[in-house]
Amino acid sequence: MSALNLFRKEFGAEPAGLWAAPGRVNLIGEHTDYNEGFVLPFALPQRTIAAVGPAPAGEWTVCSTFEGEGISFGATEPGEVTGWAAYVAGIVWALRDAGFDVPGARIALDSEVPVGSGLSSSAALESSVLTALIDLGGLELPLERRPALAQRAENVYVGAPTGILDQSASIRCRAGRALFLDCRSYEIKQIPFDLAAEGLAILVINSNAPHQHVDGEYGARRKSCEEAARILGVPALRDVPLAGLADALDRLDDEVMRRRVRHIVTEDQRVLDTVALLEGGRVREIGPLLTASHASMRDDFEITVPQIDVAVEAALEAGAYGARMTGGGFGGCVLALIDADRAPAVTEAVENAYGNRGFTAPTCWIAVASEGAARL
Ligand code: GLA
Repeated sequence: MSALNLFRKEFGAEPAGLWAAPGRVNLIGEHTDYNEGFVLPFALPQRTIAAVGPAPAGEWTVCSTFEGEGISFGATEPGEVTGWAAYVAGIVWALRDAGFDVPGARIALDSEVPVGSGLSSSAALESSVLTALIDLGGLELPLERRPALAQRAENVYVGAPTGILDQSASIRCRAGRALFLDCRSYEIKQIPFDLAAEGLAILVINSNAPHQHVDGEYGARRKSCEEAARILGVPALRDVPLAGLADALDRLDDEVMRRRVRHIVTEDQRVLDTVALLEGGRVREIGPLLTASHASMRDDFEITVPQIDVAVEAALEAGAYGARMTGGGFGGCVLALIDADRAPAVTEAVENAYGNRGFTAPTCWIAVASEGAARL
């Protein structure tokens, strides 16, 4: 059922409007966001749709096509609403906490973003609700300040220590562009990313591998990076230049921490190199950077799983220019840069590799850089 029909059914009325916010894939720049470095995501065509209408002040009711039970809440504090609705209550809380007079609302949600696949279904949910409440209440919150507010909802209300990548992508991406974001200054640059014009495509391969220990491992990576920055005497690992990497590694005793630092410092440089190539129209040449990013996540940051590595290898063997895991890790999706007409062959190669290993079959599709959060 669509969000619109769910709204009509649950609330017996027409909504004031429909708002949509997309999931994302990150082209390159993984785990660099909370190290105040660089990322380069683009928005997916798959979105979360929110049908929203007014309710009495201080009352919010939310229902969705993905969870049976709707839920109502008033002004809450972090942790009081749990489960998927916490993302909605978190947005209301973060807006109120920032001093906004948030309008009461009835919200019906539907999502096309696959949950648990590392494509930021939670950021899509947050961003659709945030955009709707801002519009509905006529709140003055410029676009560039919105991702940090949604991130705060996730960090403080939901309790997940994520960076600002996903919310920035869902809110600030534009169709046909990749979003180059400086995660310290929040400055952005929209980078031309029209692959079809080049006869190219990004094939997304959902590994369908079960996510395991994601939260704990993510937090551990973040802690290790922050600890390394402290030892090195810099505000964040973003401040270690590639030219200073060898020196920095010499000053760290812990072998695991050294690997984590090497990933972040080299990954930031790969983002910058990727942006330079895309701006120069040399799209195919980003392939080796994507593949190097994957090797770094596999060997240094240690966030891949066998299903993910097999997908990358199979895609490369089938002729991809480059391939890498995208997102937080421990499952999720791989992206491969391919000639558009090779999509069936690469898909088949990955499916065969999965079949040979007895893995659950992957799901593959072409991702086109799409529009960020908006009123429909
Ligand atoms: C998850 C987090 C992001 C980012 C990525 C890794 O998606 O939500 O903030 O850290 O992992 O790049």
